[in-house]
Amino acid sequence: MEKKILVVLYSYTGTGKTLAQLLTSQKGWPIGHISEARPRQGVWGTWRCLLDSWLRRHPEIHYVGPSPSEFDCVVLVSPIWMYRLAGPMRSFVVLHQKLLPDLAVISLMGKRGGHNAVAEIESLMGKSPLLTAVFTAAEVQNGSYAGRLQAFGDAIEQAENSQEVTRPSMWSMPGL
Ligand SMILES: Cc1cc2nc3c(=O)[nH]c(=O)nc-3n(C[C@H](O)[C@H](O)[C@H](O)COP(=O)(O)O)c2cc1C
Repeated sequence: MEKKILVVLYSYTGTGKTLAQLLTSQKGWPIGHISEARPRQGVWGTWRCLLDSWLRRHPEIHYVGPSPSEFDCVVLVSPIWMYRLAGPMRSFVVLHQKLLPDLAVISLMGKRGGHNAVAEIESLMGKSPLLTAVFTAAEVQNGSYAGRLQAFGDAIEQAENSQEVTRPSMWSMPGL
């Protein structure tokens, strides 16, 4: 039977939103949105992003979308803040820890820190994501990410539909 895959998005400045919209249109997967109880505005909003990352805080969030427990795999799409997982995605993972099925992780970043987010999710969940990928904001803005994103979506489907037992590290996407 076809596996059910859900995309869960947190985006602050809109790059991840652009990527998630393309992924869901490429694959026909549904999407859930994370927003914040206390929206971040202006310079203080940006400072709060940095503080949340530095202190590994769990800001209060709202999630609107299908329940992750109804799916075989959830693809988390989130930015990197101060070399770490963005606070609202940290909150989502902790709040839904027991409901989360297999995970795939897409990190959006300027230049560095994408793999730290994967390490943090691994440590919160106590298991490795099935697949991970990192995209830069520049790749999304200039459109060059589309082919790799399609390949990543295909790889998630193949991994989910495969009956073989495969080590998670074999499924990491090469690249950034
Ligand atoms: C507060 C803040 C901290 C950031 N820290 C990093 C960082 O440590 N490393 C990095 O490569 N990019 C960093 N960025 C850039 C974002 O990760 C990048 O622009 C990403 O594409 C934003 O995704 P979004 O538009 O979906 O929110 C930071 C951006 C913000 C606003």
